[in-house]
Amino acid sequence: MTTATVSPNATAATEIPGSEAGFDARRAAAGRPLAAVTGAEIQAPLIHGGHIRYANLDYGASAPALSVVSAYLNEILPYYASVHRGAGYASQISTSVYENARNIVREFVGGRPDDSVIFTRNTTDSLNLLAGCLPVTDGRPDGDVLYLDIEHHANLLPWQGVPHRSIVAADTIVGTIAAVRTELEQGGVSLLAVTGASNVTGEILPIRTLAALAHDHGARIVVDAAQLAPHRRVDIAADDVDYLAFSGHKLYAPFGAGVLVGRPDWLDAGTPHLAGGGAVKEARLDGVSWATGPARHEGGSPNVLGAATLARATQVIAGLDLEQWHAHESAIRSFLVEGLQQIAGVTVHQIFKDTNPDTDTIGVVNFSVEGYDAGLVAAYLSAEHGVGLRDGRFCAHPLLKRLGLPSGSLRASFGVGSRLEDAERLLAGIAALRSNGLGWDYVVDAGRWVPANDTRTYPQWAPNTPGTAGAAPCIDD
Ligand code: ALA
Repeated sequence: MTTATVSPNATAATEIPGSEAGFDARRAAAGRPLAAVTGAEIQAPLIHGGHIRYANLDYGASAPALSVVSAYLNEILPYYASVHRGAGYASQISTSVYENARNIVREFVGGRPDDSVIFTRNTTDSLNLLAGCLPVTDGRPDGDVLYLDIEHHANLLPWQGVPHRSIVAADTIVGTIAAVRTELEQGGVSLLAVTGASNVTGEILPIRTLAALAHDHGARIVVDAAQLAPHRRVDIAADDVDYLAFSGHKLYAPFGAGVLVGRPDWLDAGTPHLAGGGAVKEARLDGVSWATGPARHEGGSPNVLGAATLARATQVIAGLDLEQWHAHESAIRSFLVEGLQQIAGVTVHQIFKDTNPDTDTIGVVNFSVEGYDAGLVAAYLSAEHGVGLRDGRFCAHPLLKRLGLPSGSLRASFGVGSRLEDAERLLAGIAALRSNGLGWDYVVDAGRWVPANDTRTYPQWAPNTPGTAGAAPCIDD
């Protein structure tokens, strides 16, 4: 089980970088969370003993529930009942909540009145659904799906099962737009699939420009907004985006729902995503007439609580003051980036040279620490500093390989529940690592770095079975 061990160095006092310039302004903008989230004060056990407030810097993977959303869940839970299938009081309330959630989500994304709003499990599910709806004429696909090499696997793998082309993004946004244009000019592209913001680096893509390019060449565009929607206003009608997908679990509603919004024609003609009850007009023993509209793709009892909480979260996010929202996120990000860049041996990664760090990045910072595996740094930050972040290849293997990070890097990501102190904790941890080394022995267990002889305990309802820490199915991600 154990394949490697790394031992601690003696400790010494460490300066926290980035704590001087502009600190008061940043403290004013981001000293406190912008919105309350459930679990903001949970205590993480430390390997040397004691506990510390958990510094959650892993919002990009899954964000905590907004407190408003948790309260709403409790409010509607007593009325939970079958949706679309009952005349009873609770069923009617549940059906109303579920159907109204579509309208709320449509409004959140600036949808057109006739756009379909289909509830799914997550962004991956939404994009797989769309892959089953690409137009076909006389049994032949109308064209290829075109995607960049910077995509999350959710916006890459679903297209590999249909006619497709990929291109390598340039090292500038301008160059990337030119590369997309050149490929579109070849003709034969039916859909451009692009992320709204990179889940690896947080850099934002120029969606409106790409949508216009796609349309000029007879293609449609789908935007993977899993990372963008929790950080920026989206407006698909204004940007002329045809399809948009995002997930509740990254948008402060981690209750198992995602969504696909977009033009109904392809969706109403496409392969039903989940064949079963509710998806049909009429079923026969050896045949079926499928429904149109969202029902076509939502077979089985839907996740009403997931959809309702996702919709409630969008209302809270839509209600944020834009200036405060931006100032909060930007204060944490610039503090983190500047602080990391002051630490010798730390490299901050980005894809594009021409990204404007103030306007064109969301709350994501990607970095690596010379001399240490990313997984070891993540284990150290958790065990010795109570910081949670993601390491690895972020389900974006082609990009990580091209960035020269084939064995992965570290990603700090944050949102409305974050505070500057979370970033300070991370910087202090990395500074201490560089000046003092590790404060504990670490071993590789089932492919993941973990503290040796870990005596930290989990709550009794989450037993720390040996190997649990390494048992993630995303071990290679
Ligand atoms: N897609 C999620 C991430 O980037 C899980 O971490």
